[in-house]
Amino acid sequence: MSEAMLGGRFTFPGASLTVGRIGYGAMQLAGPGVFGPPKDPEVAIAVLREAVAAGVNHIDTSDYYGPHVTNQIIRQALHPYPSELVIVTKLGARRPPDKSWQPANSPRDLTAGVHDNLRNLGLAALDVVNYRAMGSVHGPKEGSIAEPVTALADLKREGLIRHIGLSNVTAVQLAEAQAITDVVCVQNNYNLAHRHDDALIHDLARQGIAYVPFFPLGGFTPLQSSTLSDVAGRLGSTPMQVALAWLLQRSPNILLIPGTSSLAHLRENLAAGQLTLSPPILEELDGIAAAAAEH
Ligand SMILES: NC(=O)c1ccc[n+]([C@@H]2O[C@H](COP(=O)([O-])OP(=O)(O)OC[C@H]3O[C@@H](n4cnc5c(N)ncnc54)[C@H](OP(=O)(O)O)[C@@H]3O)[C@@H](O)[C@H]2O)c1
Repeated sequence: MSEAMLGGRFTFPGASLTVGRIGYGAMQLAGPGVFGPPKDPEVAIAVLREAVAAGVNHIDTSDYYGPHVTNQIIRQALHPYPSELVIVTKLGARRPPDKSWQPANSPRDLTAGVHDNLRNLGLAALDVVNYRAMGSVHGPKEGSIAEPVTALADLKREGLIRHIGLSNVTAVQLAEAQAITDVVCVQNNYNLAHRHDDALIHDLARQGIAYVPFFPLGGFTPLQSSTLSDVAGRLGSTPMQVALAWLLQRSPNILLIPGTSSLAHLRENLAAGQLTLSPPILEELDGIAAAAAEH
């Protein structure tokens, strides 16, 4: 697959890591409710192998997906890893047997989490680790993240982590983290209908830092909008392709990690890099966020 088809390239700041702007989010592979066992382990492996064969070199994961299951599938499917593959993982949560999502952000939790990721992925060092602030149910919540970020910076100095990112954070928390260590990416909830981070994206673009939307397709309830369907129909594409193409055009520092456990959806999502949205179409799509904001 050509670079254009994968949405062009992006190099993380201060890093030798360059990725295609269309990557892959592995969370859906863990199984229903992001808790193992996987729906279909054979298909999960096939999805990962096809993604990489198609040119994807950015995979987003966490050892708390499953827990452990997603990383183990990635290892089974792809190890030994191609040299250009960048695996981005995240720390900050744990999944007890009741399947809830609980914070795990003490220095001790984070150190244990790094070792879990290294063991389950079969790596000696992690390319990028996002500190995932647990925030509130709906998104980030102000509050110091200095302690966990300092713990990750220590693990970076030990050579277990190469680069640090943040997830589910505010601009204030980003600035606090940047006073402690370099930040190469921010991963927050953002898509066509949910645009609370417009100012943050602009600021990160100015700094050359990647913005990696989670729930790029709407997450557990994929985006549904008559405007999106109408536009997709007129362009001969699908609503999800329009949603991904919109993100690619929104800002050059946006990297995509759409999640799927389906080969057909993977192919559809990778092809979104070929779609160009004209200014009138972009304007029409703005109506989706306006309508969502009214609800
Ligand atoms: N930092 C964080 O807190 C955080 C939170 C959530 C997620 N993430 C990361 O972000 C990645 C993406 O988020 P996500 O997977 O939750 O949400 P998403 O990419 O917005 O959407 C995934 C959902 O859309 C469906 N889907 C995917 N492609 C489709 C297509 N072409 N047509 C129709 N449906 C399609 C998937 O179902 P099928 O499996 O049936 O395709 C799945 O239900 C995750 O994999 C994870 O790595 C990070």
